[in-house]
Amino acid sequence: MTILGIETSCDETALALIEARRRGEGFECRIIRSLVHSQAELHSAYGGVFPSLAKREHGKNLVPLLHKLLDGSGVEYGAPLDPEAFSRHIDGFRADLGKQNPDLVESVAGADFLKNVPRIDFIAVTEGPGLEPALWVGINFARLLCLLWNIPVLPVNHMEGHVVGSLLDPDLPFGTWQKLKPLPYPALALLISGGHTELVLVPLPGKYEIVGQTRDDAVGEAFDKAGRLLGLPYPGGPHIALLARQAFEQNLTSAIRLPRPMIESGDLDFSFSGLKTAVLYAVRKETAGGRELTPDFKKGLAREFEEAVADTLDAKLRGAIEKTGAQAIIIGGGVSANDALRKRFRKTADERSLPLFLPSRHVSGDNALMIALAGALHSSAGMPKSRELKAHGTKRLGENAVIT
Ligand code: KG4
Ligand code: ZN
Repeated sequence: MTILGIETSCDETALALIEARRRGEGFECRIIRSLVHSQAELHSAYGGVFPSLAKREHGKNLVPLLHKLLDGSGVEYGAPLDPEAFSRHIDGFRADLGKQNPDLVESVAGADFLKNVPRIDFIAVTEGPGLEPALWVGINFARLLCLLWNIPVLPVNHMEGHVVGSLLDPDLPFGTWQKLKPLPYPALALLISGGHTELVLVPLPGKYEIVGQTRDDAVGEAFDKAGRLLGLPYPGGPHIALLARQAFEQNLTSAIRLPRPMIESGDLDFSFSGLKTAVLYAVRKETAGGRELTPDFKKGLAREFEEAVADTLDAKLRGAIEKTGAQAIIIGGGVSANDALRKRFRKTADERSLPLFLPSRHVSGDNALMIALAGALHSSAGMPKSRELKAHGTKRLGENAVIT
């Protein structure tokens, strides 16, 4: 089956096309294309994601991105829509959503290529968690394509996308069939992104229990806020990582020791707001009397910050492995692009001889490939059940479970 994935939960407009099939007990997929249009530069002026701007940009980006995705993709086409049916759908769409998503409606109305009906079996779209105005754009686009092309839509949880995206083989090029490696259960996922920090137990395929989470800021948010305090562009995570690496190469350390929050709490929860505050105090002290931050100070503090985060995440991961008897570790979310963190997780997994699933660079940040894949895994037991489509900004991945 061929699946179109749509992801608009934050500041990335993303589409992907995959093929998937079940083979005996196994599952195979082939990535045809995955496109991500990042709005990060636009949002950087606001120091974070600005929801109404994200919504408008998704509305503008989706149609051209779909054109790029389909063009030359090799996807087959059925009989085209007759122009009258197309206009009727567009009129209905305009009446329904013209006020809510004017950019999307107008770009769809002008897109003649949508009259060609690709042979896609279903659409998988992110329903949450995320920014609701942004999520709605992807959902409304999926609803429109569903009407135009007469194909079902399956809503997908963004966090499940981050879990399953990490199962893809990072070394295989697009276009080749790959068999997903069988996952030993229970597996444990550490999801670290700009909006989330969660430890999720996966006792069985498709079942999730949250065993630990942040009580305040997400780890990516802490990176971004610390980055801002150090005068780095948004998102701060990659910039802090770069400075930390330079500090390591130049053997620079920080005179300031940052806290390792909740490391001794005995549970699996996180807290990162204190770490950010500690960076704030360190910067304030350094700049007292109008002094400028020196490049070496920034590098040293970035390194110390990254180490504090690594110590904290790694301690909780180790605790969770012990408490849950996990047989495999999955790391997902944008922050998992961080090399220092990847090294730590690798060491923890190797010491316990546990398989570690780390996302490749093109799936660590938000993307639609992981959404299409999550949809494919759900549907491979049967055809997807389209249910009422709605954005769920605070949607959770499974129930909370207390592990003692
Ligand atoms: O998963 P993601 O793309 O979007 C959300 O769903 O939040 O994660 C974005 C987050 C940002 O906070 C960004 O600073 C962080 O991932 N990030 C990093 C690195 N690359 C991206 N954090 C630390 N080190 C990196 N190399
Ligand atoms: Zn994400």
